[in-house]
Amino acid sequence: MKTESSFSSARWIIQKALPVSAIFAVAACTASDAPVSAILPGEAIPALSDANRGRFLLGRALFERIATQDEGLGPLYNQDRCSSCHDRPTVGGASSASVRVLKATRFMDGRCDRLEALGGDNIQLRVTELFAAHGFGAEEIPLEATASGYVTAPSLFGLGLIEAIPDSVLLSIADPEDRDGDGISGRLPRMADQRSARFGRKGDAASVEDFVESALRFELGFTTPRYPEEEARNGVPIPEGVDPMPDPEIDAETLGLLTDYVRFLGAPAPEFLGRGPAADSVSQGEALFDQIGCTQCHRPELRTGNAEEPVLRDQVIRLYSDLLLHDFGNGAGDLCGSDALPGEFRTPPLWGLRYREHFLHDGSVTDLVEVIDRHSGEAILARVRFQGLAPQAQMMVLRFLRSL
Ligand code: HEC
Ligand code: HEC
Repeated sequence: MKTESSFSSARWIIQKALPVSAIFAVAACTASDAPVSAILPGEAIPALSDANRGRFLLGRALFERIATQDEGLGPLYNQDRCSSCHDRPTVGGASSASVRVLKATRFMDGRCDRLEALGGDNIQLRVTELFAAHGFGAEEIPLEATASGYVTAPSLFGLGLIEAIPDSVLLSIADPEDRDGDGISGRLPRMADQRSARFGRKGDAASVEDFVESALRFELGFTTPRYPEEEARNGVPIPEGVDPMPDPEIDAETLGLLTDYVRFLGAPAPEFLGRGPAADSVSQGEALFDQIGCTQCHRPELRTGNAEEPVLRDQVIRLYSDLLLHDFGNGAGDLCGSDALPGEFRTPPLWGLRYREHFLHDGSVTDLVEVIDRHSGEAILARVRFQGLAPQAQMMVLRFLRSL
C-alpha cells in the first residue's frame, strides 16, 4: 500500500544524503573539466548530460548512505548500505572476499527450487534491533535445502553498457544445442515472464533496475513499489510492530536514482602501456588468449544498440564476456538460479580484472592460475590448452589478464 508519508520519507532519504543544490554545482564543473578518455573506476561514463550526471551523483549518495530501521532497513537484512558490499577498489566496485552473501537452494530430480516459500535463497544474516527485541534472530538455512554456498558481489562498472546490448546480439552468439560441435553451448536464460536475463552471476535479472530492486529487498530489507510486502523470515510472516515504516519503504524516484547511478557507472579501460616490451607481451598474451579458446566465452567485444541515453548508444564495448550461461563443470555448482542449474554460471566480464582481489562466484580463489585450473565443463578444452602452453606463453596470458 502506497501512502503519502512513505513517499515523503523516502524523498527525505535523498535530501539528507546530500543537498540537491550542492550536487548540481558539482555536476556543472565536473562535466566540462573531465578528460573524456581518462576514466578511473567508480567514475561516470564520460560525456554524460548534466542532468544525468546529477542523477548519477544523487544515486551515488544513496548508494553510500547508511540506512536505519526507522527508514525501512530490515527487519531482515545483510548490510545497511550498498557500498558495504560494492567498495573495491572504490564505491561501485566488488566486495572484499570476507563480505559474502549466503545462499541456499534445493536441487532434486533435475529441478532447481529457490525455496521461495521458505524465505527465498538469500539467507539474511542480520536483523534490526527492533526485530531482535521481539525475540527474532537471523534466517537459517532451511532443512529442505540440498546445498548452500557463498556469492561475492561483482563490480558494477559498465552495467548500463551491458544493458544496452540488444538481445539479438546475445542470441546470435548463443548455441544452446552446441550445433557447431565445439563443446561450448552458451545459452541466454529466461525469467518466468520470458524476458532474457543477462545480470547476476547465474543470469537472474533482466534489467539494471530489476537487480537494484532485488538488492534493496534482499540485501537491505526495503519494500518497494512492486514488492510492498516484507519478505517472510524463513517463510514465517513478519509480525506487527517490528517494522514501523509504512510500505513501500522505497519510492519509484529513489529506485530510479539508484538505478541511474549503476547504469551510468563507466567501464574500466585496460591499463595504458604505450609501446615497448611490456605492451608487446600483453598483446601476445591477448593473441594466445584467443588461440586457446578463452574468447569462445570471454568475447572481447560486443556492440550496444539503440539506447535512450546517447553515451550508451552504438558503442563497441570490450567486456570479455558473452553474458551467456555455461556449464562450468563438476564441483563448481552449489546454487540454483531462476533458470540456471547448479553447475551453470554466466561468463563474468573481465574488464577491470586488475582491480580485483579474488575471483569466481564465491571469491574462493586469489591466484589467476588457479582460476584457470578451476575451469571445467564446457571450458575444459581451453583450460587444457592453457596448461599445454610453454611457461613463457602462460606468463603472457596472465600479464594480459592483469592488464584488463
Ligand atoms: C550484502 C552484500 C550486498 C549488498 C549490501 C548489496 N549487494 Fe549488490 N550484489 C551482491 C552480490 C553477492 C551480488 C551477486 C549476486 C548474484 O549474482 O547472484 C550482487 C550483484 C549486484 C548487481 C548485479 C551485477 C551484475 O553484474 O549482474 C547489482 C546491479 C547490484 N548488486 C546492485 C546493488 C545495489 C544498488 C545495492 C544497494 C541497494 C546493493 N547491490 C547492495 C551483494 C550485495
Ligand atoms: C565455457 C566458457 C568459458 C571459457 C572457454 C573460459 N571461461 Fe573463464 N569463466 C567462465 C565462467 C562461467 C566463469 C565464472 C565461474 C564462477 O564464477 O564460478 C569464468 C571465470 C573466469 C575468470 C575469473 C573472473 C572473475 O570475475 O572472477 C577468469 C580470470 C577467467 N575466467 C579466465 C579465463 C581464461 C584465461 C580462459 C582460457 C584459458 C577462460 N577463462 C575460458 C567461462 C569460461
